[in-house]
Amino acid sequence: MRRRLDSQHFKMAERILIVDDETAARAALEMLLRREGFDVRDARNGPEAVETCASFRPDLILLDIVMPGMNGFEVCRQIKATPETRLTPVVLITGLYETEDRIMGINAGADDFLSKPIDFNELLARTRSLLRLKQYTDELENAEAVLFSLAQSIEARDPYTRGHCERLAELSARLGEKMGLSDEYITALRRAGIVHDIGKVVVPDAVLLKPDPLSPEDMKVMKKHPIMGEQICAPMRTFRLVLPIIRHHHERHDGSGYPDGLRGDQIPLTAQILQLADVFDALTTDRPYRAASTAAGALEIMEAEAARGWWNRELLATFREMILNGNSHNSNGHAAGNGHR
Ligand SMILES: [Fe+2]
Repeated sequence: MRRRLDSQHFKMAERILIVDDETAARAALEMLLRREGFDVRDARNGPEAVETCASFRPDLILLDIVMPGMNGFEVCRQIKATPETRLTPVVLITGLYETEDRIMGINAGADDFLSKPIDFNELLARTRSLLRLKQYTDELENAEAVLFSLAQSIEARDPYTRGHCERLAELSARLGEKMGLSDEYITALRRAGIVHDIGKVVVPDAVLLKPDPLSPEDMKVMKKHPIMGEQICAPMRTFRLVLPIIRHHHERHDGSGYPDGLRGDQIPLTAQILQLADVFDALTTDRPYRAASTAAGALEIMEAEAARGWWNRELLATFREMILNGNSHNSNGHAAGNGHR
């Protein structure tokens, strides 16, 4: 007899962590949720909850506020401040009319609230809706993780570029902050730092790793990478602000760059920011055909390039100030990079 392939049959049970210092309350919730097919663990206090989060990786946390020692708000804050669990939904269990608790809960990053005494139907409805949401964010995170690994594997093809992407993400974000950009643009800069050269997947090793300056034919291949990168990342809706950075990270102020030959303010500010960080990191790096410059030396070269019309001079002045006054990772002038082509 053929066995029916039911997708539900293969679905892993969703994991729920219950945190409550009262044994009876914990047991009641646990029994109900197990009966509904969830994989349930419990914790009796804050530190135990944080520890269980790391090993159990719950999809949802039901968290009582009033507990001895570390209370629910603190636990929630800690969960939301940990990168691995920041997107895990937390439901705080509060007293019936405790408005104050809810405000503090929102400030601690809680996603939802349940009032005591708990209505089991309400609990199940909220649990299911939050778990659906968690599934979407998981899928999104997975797609992002795939892009980041692809970008890293491309970076790894060139031993001279090791660590370039992370430094670039950091340096661009700092310059973005100095320019007063909002958080969503700073996040876009961090992401672009990692994925901006993802389109180099179409550039063969013979060109990418060439120790000599590139021939016009090689350049033609190399110049495809911004558009290819934009195409690879385009399906990600969360990358909306990242796409223009990828596409335009090789434009120049005087219109002599690629792929679109944009000039001056036509080039998105975020792309200009990434560019300066990219060029600086490339210059302060040993390459097969030249030794690394010091930070001051790199800035001097960039000033000369700005005078030739390549870079935005005001932005470069801000960047210069940031490098000379801040404690950049590159200030010793020995780092990796590849962005100057
Ligand atoms: Fe590039």
